[in-house]
Amino acid sequence: MALYLVTGGAGFIGSHLCDALIARGDRVRVLDDLSTDHLSNLPPGIDFLKGDIADPEAAAKATQDVDGCFHLAAIASVERGVNDWTGTHKANLTGAITIFDALRRTGAPVVYASSAAVYGDCQTIPIDETADRSPLSAYGADKLGCELHARVASHVHGIPAVGLRFFNVYGPRQDPKSPYSGVISISGVISIFCQRIGDGAPIAIFGDGGQTRDFVHVSDVVKALLAAMALKPTDAPVFNVCTGQATSVLDLAHLIADLAGKPLNHSFQPPRAGEIRHSLGNPARLRATLHAADPVQLRTGLAGVLAWMAASR
Ligand SMILES: NC(=O)c1ccc[n+]([C@@H]2O[C@H](COP(=O)([O-])OP(=O)(O)OC[C@H]3O[C@@H](n4cnc5c(N)ncnc54)[C@H](O)[C@@H]3O)[C@@H](O)[C@H]2O)c1
Repeated sequence: MALYLVTGGAGFIGSHLCDALIARGDRVRVLDDLSTDHLSNLPPGIDFLKGDIADPEAAAKATQDVDGCFHLAAIASVERGVNDWTGTHKANLTGAITIFDALRRTGAPVVYASSAAVYGDCQTIPIDETADRSPLSAYGADKLGCELHARVASHVHGIPAVGLRFFNVYGPRQDPKSPYSGVISISGVISIFCQRIGDGAPIAIFGDGGQTRDFVHVSDVVKALLAAMALKPTDAPVFNVCTGQATSVLDLAHLIADLAGKPLNHSFQPPRAGEIRHSLGNPARLRATLHAADPVQLRTGLAGVLAWMAASR
């Protein structure tokens, strides 16, 4: 049985990855500081270490004897990066380097979470991996930093490293109450809309609702993570994790209302400063190398989120 470390394993994506690793018979260790307070996300049978990824001792202990590391822990918030620039930098980039550094002692491969935020407001869509990287936030800049340091980990220290640029991930367990999930540029719009529309509450749409996003289901993200771990490359590649399908925020709201069987009660609010108009990834490299075909259709995935929310009420 292989042993995998999942940093941020108590989070939304990390907990789904832990489920998948346990289900296929692997052993799982999680390093998480529980800053988003979701210990209940973790399945039984996990070796749980509470600690900070930027703490070298915690990183050394967590990486001991592992066969691979999925590095997902981060403060996944553009807003937090505005309000606490140095604090988020410590988690998002110093934390990543600390984990890469600890892995030098093991030689184990790492698959780490990057983000579509590295592209900034890319004018050519769909965006492929060769597009300019011009992050517009501290969060995106730190994710780009992770990619650059993953190249160092690979080229200088011989650690196989794969970066996954997640687009807007959604699925069960995404917390609509999280201060992060209100940020449309990351992904939480789905959990907020599902909760409020499901409750018959009004929703606010910023701007005209014509902004589009590439929503990818968390189960497809987990498949990409597992396939990336099997690669063990020497050139630190990066992959978009996306569907190549654009959905406008207004269409999304109508679709959720339709699935929930509720009327859509929405208001339009002034557009948010700096919000990216269109974000759409090109999944060609993902499909060719990580064999990620047939992503979950948005309608199917949303029905699952609504069912999960109804069951947890
Ligand atoms: N959800 C998305 O749409 C999305 C999009 C792009 C990239 N990502 C990236 O994917 C990864 C996982 O995202 P998520 O949506 O599951 O976020 P999440 O907030 O649900 O999970 C992150 C986890 O990391 C933990 N954590 C935060 N700082 C830590 C620290 N210093 N030490 C140890 N643990 C710490 C938190 O407690 C949490 O459990 C993150 O790196 C995020 O930036 C997510």
